[in-house]
Amino acid sequence: MKDSIDMEYPILTKSVPTFYFIGVTTSESSIMKVFPLWAEALGRPEVVIEGIDHALHDDHGAYRHTVAQIKFDPLSLGGLVTTHKIDILEAAGDMFEILHSSAQLTGEVSCISKRNGILVGHAKDVLTAGLSLDAVLGENYFARTGGHVMNIGAGGSGKAIALHLIQKENAGDRPRRFVMVNRSKPRLVKCQEMVESLETDIQFEYILNNDPRVNDEIMASLPEGSVVINSTGMGKDRPGSPITDHGLFPRNGVAWEINYRGELDFWHQAKAQEESRGVFVEDGWLYFLHGWAQHIAEVLHIEMDKEIFKKLASLVADLRPELVPIPRSG
Ligand SMILES: NC(=O)c1ccc[n+]([C@@H]2O[C@H](COP(=O)([O-])OP(=O)(O)OC[C@H]3O[C@@H](n4cnc5c(N)ncnc54)[C@H](OP(=O)(O)O)[C@@H]3O)[C@@H](O)[C@H]2O)c1
Repeated sequence: MKDSIDMEYPILTKSVPTFYFIGVTTSESSIMKVFPLWAEALGRPEVVIEGIDHALHDDHGAYRHTVAQIKFDPLSLGGLVTTHKIDILEAAGDMFEILHSSAQLTGEVSCISKRNGILVGHAKDVLTAGLSLDAVLGENYFARTGGHVMNIGAGGSGKAIALHLIQKENAGDRPRRFVMVNRSKPRLVKCQEMVESLETDIQFEYILNNDPRVNDEIMASLPEGSVVINSTGMGKDRPGSPITDHGLFPRNGVAWEINYRGELDFWHQAKAQEESRGVFVEDGWLYFLHGWAQHIAEVLHIEMDKEIFKKLASLVADLRPELVPIPRSG
């Protein structure tokens, strides 16, 4: 049914509490199967998930319409934004009564929620990428190993990972050096501006590069125990990998492919060196679970602790797409 609370953005009056997933191809995500199970487990089975697909860099009016739907309809509770995190803030930032410091610092909104009718925007990637990375590395990782970090892809996730490490209080959880690689300049510059607005003892290097062979060379120069992260979306959003099949991962290091579905070439390349070079290989499933758990908790006003998260994760373990390593050279 149409409503006319705001003539510029006609909104729908929902008849059931609705959590929105704002993305590009939302119906294909595993969350459509995960959400009903989690809503039930969290004691909120009446809440449904609904996808809103926007074109890449959609019109500002279209983004404002989506935000208005949540802002003005009482049963539109909030949602998670992927892909359009920067665009939503640019197009509709003025519609939020509260923009959390995470959103201001990163220039993104990933979570739209309401507190007593007030519209709130958060950027949760620093928290959720951080929870995932911490689970992989454990405490004091960099003091234990002396490893560096090479992150390929200076977009939302890459920036969030950098910020998470900068914010680590224990010196042993911060790498001495962080190499950020991006294929074009604007994101690299934005990342550099963000880092330089903060105080950090991590030595950041920014490398403009789109050649996988150069990434191989950078990777080969890293010390043992280093962490190499693919935050480019290559292997899911676009074919390929930012490194070649001949690239050698740091001995006894960590390779993190932040996606969990798709061709995942980078994950397969790392997996092929798991034994020969002692590489610990992680994909993005845990990141996916932490991301959704934190956003749902914010929107539904639930305290998300380790026990609840563990329960939610085990509930959907069977839904994890199976990844089977295939033999490769390298
Ligand atoms: N597992 C999860 O739950 C989870 C959570 C968050 C994100 N993700 C996934 O992670 C990927 C990245 O997400 P995002 O939000 O950070 O995306 P994003 O903001 O679009 O960032 C991707 C960045 O990678 C850069 N890039 C692409 N190919 C490159 C290459 N070959 N070498 C160097 N840089 C390259 C892009 O450069 P330009 O600046 O030139 O475009 C862009 O800055 C996506 O596939 C997303 O779906 C997964």
